[in-house]
Amino acid sequence: MRVTVVGSGYVGTTLAACLADAGHDVTAVDIDPDVVAAINDGHAAIHEPGLDDLLSEHAGDRLRATTEYESVPDADVTFLAIGTPSNEDGSIDLGALTAAAEMTGEALAGEGNGSGATPDDRHLVVVKSTITPPGVGAVREALHAGAGDAADRVELATNPEFLREGTAVDDFRHPDKIVFGTESEWATERLETLYEPLVAATDADVPVIRTDPETAVMIKYANNAFLASKISLSNDLGNICKRFGIDAYEVMDAVGLDDRIGAKFLRSGVGWGGSCFPKDVDAIRAAAREAGYEPALLDAAVAVNDGQPERMLELLDAHADVAGGRVAVLGLAFKPGTDDVRNSRAIPIIEGLQDRSADVVGYDPVAAENTRERFPDIEYADSAAAALDGASAALVVTDWDEFAALDDAFDAMADPVVIDGRRVIERRAGLTYEGLTW
Ligand code: UDX
Repeated sequence: MRVTVVGSGYVGTTLAACLADAGHDVTAVDIDPDVVAAINDGHAAIHEPGLDDLLSEHAGDRLRATTEYESVPDADVTFLAIGTPSNEDGSIDLGALTAAAEMTGEALAGEGNGSGATPDDRHLVVVKSTITPPGVGAVREALHAGAGDAADRVELATNPEFLREGTAVDDFRHPDKIVFGTESEWATERLETLYEPLVAATDADVPVIRTDPETAVMIKYANNAFLASKISLSNDLGNICKRFGIDAYEVMDAVGLDDRIGAKFLRSGVGWGGSCFPKDVDAIRAAAREAGYEPALLDAAVAVNDGQPERMLELLDAHADVAGGRVAVLGLAFKPGTDDVRNSRAIPIIEGLQDRSADVVGYDPVAAENTRERFPDIEYADSAAAALDGASAALVVTDWDEFAALDDAFDAMADPVVIDGRRVIERRAGLTYEGLTW
């Protein structure tokens, strides 16, 4: 099939590369000429394992990138994979997505007049971006406004993405489920044809959910809201455990054996960050309020999450006065395996240390540069050992595996106070060690 993917961020680039790899003929569209040049050159502007290999294999062959919408009229499917950031109040900002939808519509408006397509051709435009149920109508309106007289031949569908940063390519190829939100049998069949080679390549039977566009996007929000709340509930219970001197990990390991609960996403600590959970939970809360419903449980999930960095700093205060002292922050990325620092728990931790007049030295194997944009004035160390050298306290914020093996490096600390927010440090002897929930 001929596919156009509008937007070349994490989701768009992964989608374009994986669809090309599945045998489709793909055009990636992005307004940023640097991003376009990188894709045509066979590499990604983002850090994502396996993506560069796919791009270098297919760029110039089944995959090309451009800043123009020219490929849209001849595409069998056009995807919109444009970012949907948060407004100040947490509600979803659809500005960039509706602008792209309108331009997609405009590209289709001229269709039938020399583009090679017949006047009765129908076009399928599929939203990959995460949007709220009321957002579906707004995007459809923008698409149809752009299409003008051709609007009745342009159909909108949604097909939410569940991939995780750091394992995006693998997640795309081995999904737990595929969700089609369509308004017609024609659109469903077209998406089935598109996904057919991907489904055929997976070992397991991938469940395909066929529903309407609004339900499909709600599935995505419910999924992320559930997972974020699951971690927050683990943190709430973990905070209680800590008060009683009980190890929350021992408790939750046992709780997770109940197959109605499951063992994953029960790791308590400094909380969830990233580009999806915070934004999506905020967006669905704001959309719920807009519709007259107070989402009490989701509000609580956010409140617990917001409180975890402060609890970590309180534990530090109980053991050390860090004013004027050197404090190591180990891990800056929002999770291991990525250089992404969006909503990383390291941000409130560093701010809290600065409020306490500490000299902060940060270390992360890949995320230091991205953190520097936010905190240009703190020191950045080249290794965890260098960060710990002479420090009067260390706070562990990201569960990078390498931190488990630090052992002797703690001996170079001026005062070996270690507050672990991720249960990753194995050494206890000779340290004033505090786990956040254990
Ligand atoms: C998430 C969803 O998993 C994915 O399906 C969706 O499409 C996008 O959002 P991602 O943001 O890449 O993916 O990260 P994920 O691995 O889910 O971790 C999110 C955050 O939760 C991280 O900050 C992580 O450290 C934290 N986390 C995760 C915990 O604190 N405890 C856990 O047990 C699991």
